[in-house]
Amino acid sequence: MKQIIKVGMLGIGNVGRGTYETLEMNHQKIAETTGLDIEIVKILNRHPEKDRGIDIPAEKYTQNVADILDDPEIDIVIELIGGIEPATEYMARALSNGKSVVTANKAAIAANGKRLAALAQENHALLRFEAAVAGGIPILTSLTTALLSNRFTAVHGILNGTTNYILTQMSEFGADYADVLKDAQAKGFAEADPTADVEGLDAANKLSILISLIFGIEVSPETLPTQGITRVGLEDIEFAKESGYRIKLLATAREKDGKVCANVQPALVPINHPLSSVSNEFNAVYVTGNAVDNLMFYGRGAGPLPTGSAVVGDVIGIARKLEKNSAYDLVPQLRYDSGLEFDGEGTNKYYLRMMVPERTGILGRIATIFGEHDISIESIRQNAPYELDGERVAHLIIIVFPVSKPQLNDALDAIRKDGVIKSVDNIMRVEE
Ligand code: HSE
Repeated sequence: MKQIIKVGMLGIGNVGRGTYETLEMNHQKIAETTGLDIEIVKILNRHPEKDRGIDIPAEKYTQNVADILDDPEIDIVIELIGGIEPATEYMARALSNGKSVVTANKAAIAANGKRLAALAQENHALLRFEAAVAGGIPILTSLTTALLSNRFTAVHGILNGTTNYILTQMSEFGADYADVLKDAQAKGFAEADPTADVEGLDAANKLSILISLIFGIEVSPETLPTQGITRVGLEDIEFAKESGYRIKLLATAREKDGKVCANVQPALVPINHPLSSVSNEFNAVYVTGNAVDNLMFYGRGAGPLPTGSAVVGDVIGIARKLEKNSAYDLVPQLRYDSGLEFDGEGTNKYYLRMMVPERTGILGRIATIFGEHDISIESIRQNAPYELDGERVAHLIIIVFPVSKPQLNDALDAIRKDGVIKSVDNIMRVEE
């Protein structure tokens, strides 16, 4: 006999619609393979006047969150309203009422995952959030099930589809940043307020969750050194191409000698690295484990059905656990107790783009100041000089060997004070 699992869903935006559709589309297959009859019985819909583009019986909708959070018949709550609050409070209330929770909310898990995971444990409930990192890619479950045999040394992710789409369109078609951003919003994968995407905050939330799972430490998104893509110009993309790189917004964390270095930053990725061929709105996570070696997970990081796939997968996982009360609990656990230490951005190779006056002695002076700061230059290029406000200027591109950010900033301050350059227009990491 099939076991009926009653689910309440908070929110019916893009991901809510995709979740409902996924369950409708595959209901029979799920029932046949698991013996579970999963039914979304109530949906919090704050704007019943809006056309959601999906046929859902009106009696399933409610405007009162208590109809879901406090209904003893509901076993699992899916949270899809997004944002830190009131989403966190709703999840906390559901968990306190003994309900298990599935969420796609990276901001709430990055900010309050520790508290919510503790509440879940106290109340013998489960908390799952596969959809919060890289949408449809089952990265969290894979890391904590099939790959549990590994100790991981590094993770590199393209975790934001909007910025990857923008960088790809700029690189392939010379498209203008603002036009492509509008296009990404129209296609539905950019957030309504794109700041979180383009400033790297969305990727920082996702990296903070990955760090907890992979390295077992707490690094809040605010602590992660984060730089978005707003300063990446077509000139950077061209310089990178000529030197054999593509520019990607990379979320990176590495462990060495008990220390974890991490950041979110546009980076020059060699064209022969698998991450450089991840285009448009696609996401990828490239992990290095000490047994499995390098692995790349690739797929859609956003969109109603891909995200719905991850949400429904989590619901099924919880439902099986509830049904069997079994040991089926190798699930993504936020961990904060590994004893590893967070050590900021670490040392990296950097790409620098400067605007310099075109006259004798400039290069020599810059090279001397880098030398005085013990920074070794790997390569220097200068483009054709042009007139700007009556002065001959040029872009100067310098790549320096691995150095810490503070050491690099000291040298750049000295170069600025020396009056030898007009401006430093961009700094990006170079992946080796
Ligand atoms: N705005 C996000 C992106 C959606 O562009 O990837 C998924 O978190």
